[in-house]
Amino acid sequence: MTTSTTGIGLGSIPDWRDRSTALAAGLVAAGKLSSPQWRAAVENVPRHLFVPRFYRHRDGRMITFSADDPRTRQEWADTVYTNTALVTLVDQDEHAGPVFLSSSSTPGLMTRMLEALDIHDGHTVLEIGTGTGLNAAWLTHRLGDKHVYSIDIEPGLVDTARARLAQLGYRPTLVTGDGSAGLPDHAPFDRIIATCSVPSIPWAWIEQTHIGGRILADVRAGTNAGNLVHLTRTARDRAEGNFDATGATFMSLRHHPGADSRIPYTRTSTDLPATTSTTTRDPRTPWTQPVVWFLAAMHLGSSYRIGYAGDPNDGPRAATITTPDGSRAEITLATDRRGHHTVRETGPVRLWRHVEHAHHIWDQAGQPPWNRLGLLVTPDKQTIYVDTIDAPLATIQPT
Ligand SMILES: C[S@@+](CC[C@H](N)C(=O)[O-])C[C@H]1O[C@@H](n2cnc3c(N)ncnc32)[C@H](O)[C@@H]1O
Repeated sequence: MTTSTTGIGLGSIPDWRDRSTALAAGLVAAGKLSSPQWRAAVENVPRHLFVPRFYRHRDGRMITFSADDPRTRQEWADTVYTNTALVTLVDQDEHAGPVFLSSSSTPGLMTRMLEALDIHDGHTVLEIGTGTGLNAAWLTHRLGDKHVYSIDIEPGLVDTARARLAQLGYRPTLVTGDGSAGLPDHAPFDRIIATCSVPSIPWAWIEQTHIGGRILADVRAGTNAGNLVHLTRTARDRAEGNFDATGATFMSLRHHPGADSRIPYTRTSTDLPATTSTTTRDPRTPWTQPVVWFLAAMHLGSSYRIGYAGDPNDGPRAATITTPDGSRAEITLATDRRGHHTVRETGPVRLWRHVEHAHHIWDQAGQPPWNRLGLLVTPDKQTIYVDTIDAPLATIQPT
């Protein structure tokens, strides 16, 4: 595994303050930052200290951009104060290739989330997903050491973040562990912000938030299927709120350090007959209809894959959905004379029916966009609804 280290000083980018001031001004101009307090945090915390190197796929290879490599140093310096997410921890999986384990999130998304949480002086905040430590640094700049807690599953990241924060004189409480359990010893919190995605909201997070307090997290069923949800704990036994109008994507929460043990994909059994049907729904639903795909993906398990089939010279011919049990749906992009796409399914489970069903319930509900969808979280059930809980749309199984 490739780990990032501390190791660089403020002087690595002598004009960093000009750059961080320009970054903050750009975020203000783009409507992603408005409060003077968070603007001061962006301006005064040197992002390059938290991202001494990042990784990018280029020309089929993973390239490291680093402060201490003369070949990539200039590009590193030119990138680190831009409004870009930067991958900072990568694992090489023998079969799946590079797996991204940590990143410094897009600064404009971070400021948007911090402002949406309506954080005030004196609030105590728990962050799930310390990563580089940059968000913890902004929080500590704003609230002070005693009011900031952050947890990450990767011990190396936590140690490194602690050292970087100390370089700036910040000493928030950083913990190594599985953030899905929250931080019971330090609860309750006024705000919880998760910078990794979860398939459902852990009840521990609600229990560890003051009544009236807020939680912001990315609820995600799998690839392309999820969004941020803004929750308020409204009573002892419930939290509720709406999905975000704009949307955002975070890497998934893992229960162990390092890459997840990948679920092996089995080959489709040739004993099982293939079936063919037709559909008028968009075969590109996973890419074009985020709400519908979220509703469908909840039934596919988090390990599904989506993609395209076709000849590299002729371009894609069909959209594909596959699951580890060997089930596969292939939906032609072209239509026949009646405007129908052909759906060919193999393996034990007919996957496309979940997409048809999701389209159906979304149509029946009046095709609501993300921000008309609400989430009610109780100890034993999580319900997605349209506008009011009297109009339930789907249930998320708590994990
Ligand atoms: C997008 S990065 C976080 C970025 C970070 N907030 C920053 O400012 O750099 C997501 C982080 O979630 C962490 N993570 C994954 N599973 C976790 C878990 N169960 N508990 C806590 N952190 C976890 C990853 O190790 C990764 O560092």
